Amino acid sequence: MALLGLDAVPVEVEADISRASLPNFKLVGLPDTSVREAKERVRAAIANSGLMFPQARVTVNLAPADIKKEGPLHDLAIALSIVSAASKSTIKDNVRRVFLGELALTGELRPVTGALPTVLSALKTGFKEIYFPTDNSIEVGLAMEGINPKQCVAFPVRSLAEIMLHLNGGNQLQPLDLTTVQQITQHRITNQTTDFAFVSGQTQAKRALEIAAAGGHNILMTGPPGSGKTMLARSVPSILPDMTREEMLETTKIRSVSNQLESGVRLLAERPFRSPHHSASSAALIGGGSYPRPGEVSLAHHGVLFLDELPEFPRSALEALRQPLEDGFVTVSRSQCTLRFPAKFMLVAAMNPCPCGYATDPFHDCSCSPSLIARYGHRISGPLLDRIDLHIEVPRVDSKELLKTTEAEPSSIVRNRVTLAREIARRRFSNEQNCSNATIQHRTLRQYCQLDTEAKKFLEAAVDRLKLSARSVTRTFRVSRTIADLSGHEKIGREHLAEALQFRSRTK
Ligand SMILES: Nc1ncnc2c1ncn2[C@@H]1O[C@H](COP(=O)(O)OP(=O)(O)OP(=O)(O)O)[C@@H](O)[C@H]1O
Ligand SMILES: [Mg+2]
Repeated sequence: MALLGLDAVPVEVEADISRASLPNFKLVGLPDTSVREAKERVRAAIANSGLMFPQARVTVNLAPADIKKEGPLHDLAIALSIVSAASKSTIKDNVRRVFLGELALTGELRPVTGALPTVLSALKTGFKEIYFPTDNSIEVGLAMEGINPKQCVAFPVRSLAEIMLHLNGGNQLQPLDLTTVQQITQHRITNQTTDFAFVSGQTQAKRALEIAAAGGHNILMTGPPGSGKTMLARSVPSILPDMTREEMLETTKIRSVSNQLESGVRLLAERPFRSPHHSASSAALIGGGSYPRPGEVSLAHHGVLFLDELPEFPRSALEALRQPLEDGFVTVSRSQCTLRFPAKFMLVAAMNPCPCGYATDPFHDCSCSPSLIARYGHRISGPLLDRIDLHIEVPRVDSKELLKTTEAEPSSIVRNRVTLAREIARRRFSNEQNCSNATIQHRTLRQYCQLDTEAKKFLEAAVDRLKLSARSVTRTFRVSRTIADLSGHEKIGREHLAEALQFRSRTK
């Protein structure tokens, strides 16, 4: 199989041995460097497994030739095709088999990247037997869950010699036994350091984060240094609802493809929290490389993407965020292929109001000139700010709040409210593609965001007084929908609108 984004497609490996020519080994079918290096690994592995590498012209073809093959996961299939072509001992049945594995020079199998999506795709394609490196058992076990052995059987393999004996009729490989695979699901880490309870004061910021989490809104926090922005952002995953199994499988697949699954972890149950450094390139954020791998936006799928010190990010990287923020996926095009990675995440951004950080702090002098402050703000483009529904100030905490001995409300209680609100939203959008308040389209705005009479009057007055643009009105509708959901109201009331209006951008 060859990985294409989060899916894999079958690759047929053919070998031809021509004894009439000088010994030579050619690999064709758009292999990249790492696949071409398979020649050396396969040659040594075959010899060290007690088999003969043919003294002849060996041609191996990887079909279809128009898909770029990369990585060492074709090693096993290449070795098997050469050995069986040389010994003319072809298997005569019509069973469709998949062979995955990187070969060590000794002939042992090393684990491959992306085993989970690869095996899931193999199952979809209708393969009957899957041979894979033993070290990938946990991922393969996850993919094989609930699969009838009549439909497909997976065999963990330790070495080339072992699989050769098996295919030649020895049948000594045992199918993967799901009950013996270590059943580790990485559970929600009740982290001791990131909980709303540890953040003193900042009730308005916490309320805004609760709204953002409930409606899937993006949020930008502005405030002086040391006011707790980073601390607040880090505790956002603790107020997000538990992931569904479907969501867990998707995030695990993305990790598997980018080779970031910790060993022993089967299914990621904790929502991702990604905080790329501001020196990140757009390829690192969006996904890229000559053969595209998921970027930070995809690794944050179903979780939080935290951009700390937002104005310090390169402009190009921030602009590249616009498409995933809008569509919930990224498309990466390269000369060889176009891939699509899912990227539905909640954007949490933090920044200081000016380079020195104290422009909005009444108790600290700001040393920046007005033009410098303006320039600092302009580093973030309008279109990006437009995609952020909630803009809040995070002021310094005063001493009374900071030195209070009682702990604030813990995240678990906030999470319960968020979960309830999301449930209401899910029911509302049950027959729609979109499933969060943050993405309500303009055409359905009137249908989903109904105002009561008092609220209507209030909004009219607000639009006139505050000179709200059409765009901010739409945003106000979406945010107030979430606020109404949090308080369990069917119709949006005046108090919901009033609260939503507080979170609008001050610059626009
Ligand atoms: N509201 C708060 N409650 C308790 N501790 C706080 C609070 N705010 C800040 N702190 C303490 O100050 C430290 C720094 O806070 P944090 O890194 O979140 O600030 P920041 O707003 O991100 O600052 P900067 O703008 O410099 O990045 C925290 O690690 C914590 O110890
Ligand atoms: Mg910070």
